[in-house]
Amino acid sequence: MSIFSPRVFSGMQPTGNLHLGNYLGAMLNWVKMQESNECIYCVVDMHAITLWQEPKALHQAIRDVTAAYVACGVDPKRSIIFNQSQVAEHAELAWIFNCVARLGWLNRMTQFKDKAGKDKEAASVGLYVYPNLMAADILAYKATHVPVGEDQKQHLELARDIAQKFNVDFEVEFFPQPEPMITGPATRVMSLRDGTKKMSKSDPSDLSRINITDGADDIAKKIRKAKTDMDALPSEIAGLKGRPEAENLVGIYAALGGTTAQAVLSQFGGGQFSGLKNALADLAVAKLAPIADEIAKLKADPAHIDAILADGAQRARAIAAPIVKEARKIVGFVVS
Ligand code: TRP
Repeated sequence: MSIFSPRVFSGMQPTGNLHLGNYLGAMLNWVKMQESNECIYCVVDMHAITLWQEPKALHQAIRDVTAAYVACGVDPKRSIIFNQSQVAEHAELAWIFNCVARLGWLNRMTQFKDKAGKDKEAASVGLYVYPNLMAADILAYKATHVPVGEDQKQHLELARDIAQKFNVDFEVEFFPQPEPMITGPATRVMSLRDGTKKMSKSDPSDLSRINITDGADDIAKKIRKAKTDMDALPSEIAGLKGRPEAENLVGIYAALGGTTAQAVLSQFGGGQFSGLKNALADLAVAKLAPIADEIAKLKADPAHIDAILADGAQRARAIAAPIVKEARKIVGFVVS
């Protein structure tokens, strides 16, 4: 038995629109987690500025993502929703972690290599120490469970290494080892234009993704225009092999409908793509259009969104402040 009580923490960056991949891969899971857990969901604006953000757009994006959390079903009363920069303990603990983590550890981070590109010298220092801030996000709350996508697994391992090194260096058992809860390939949503690429907010083609704010007409249009191959749909999962677009549409249908890929194939196998696409368009509109409507309603009242974030920040701080204060004492700082 762990001495740490279970607590869930996760975060998303306020850059660009959320899309179907975020919804099926993360948000649905976040909503489910809050039924039986204490959950803290953060809009990680401090992570966002590791790449330059236009201030007005960032400001708007923080509110938009908050509205999306709420519209998708994260309950701001039951769970804590806040933006990272309003709780200074994240930055404070991140500094301590900058002094715990080793250069060699950060040098292995594949996301830095991807995001910094060829010209590493021109990358911000923040982008480099991004994983230390992420560890601070989690450990400022002694969170034990962290739902993240596959791409964040390495950062989670770094957070575990930091927690352990802190505990060993200071001879304490203070930070837990946070467990990643990796959302599996079943919920990996691929581009509607190319089934081998992940659905992404940075894809230049808007037809490649369904945005969480898309209205019924756009949702239906994008599904009807989704790339397919020439064959009929198979009746068994094995028949999806080497057919990434078919696999993607079947996977999306199963995830949205709360069923399995096999059940979808039992229904649509042997038929043309158009049958599946029509049914999927109806299903996606039924599930997603109400969310887009709710986001629009929330966005019409920014003061309400700001109040949710202010309340969340206050409650987050109430948890993080004593933990980070204790960490400062452990390090040897004079604390009043
Ligand atoms: N790095 C995460 C991502 O890009 C976002 C994030 C920041 C996060 N801090 C976190 C996720 C803490 C989980 C826990 O997806």
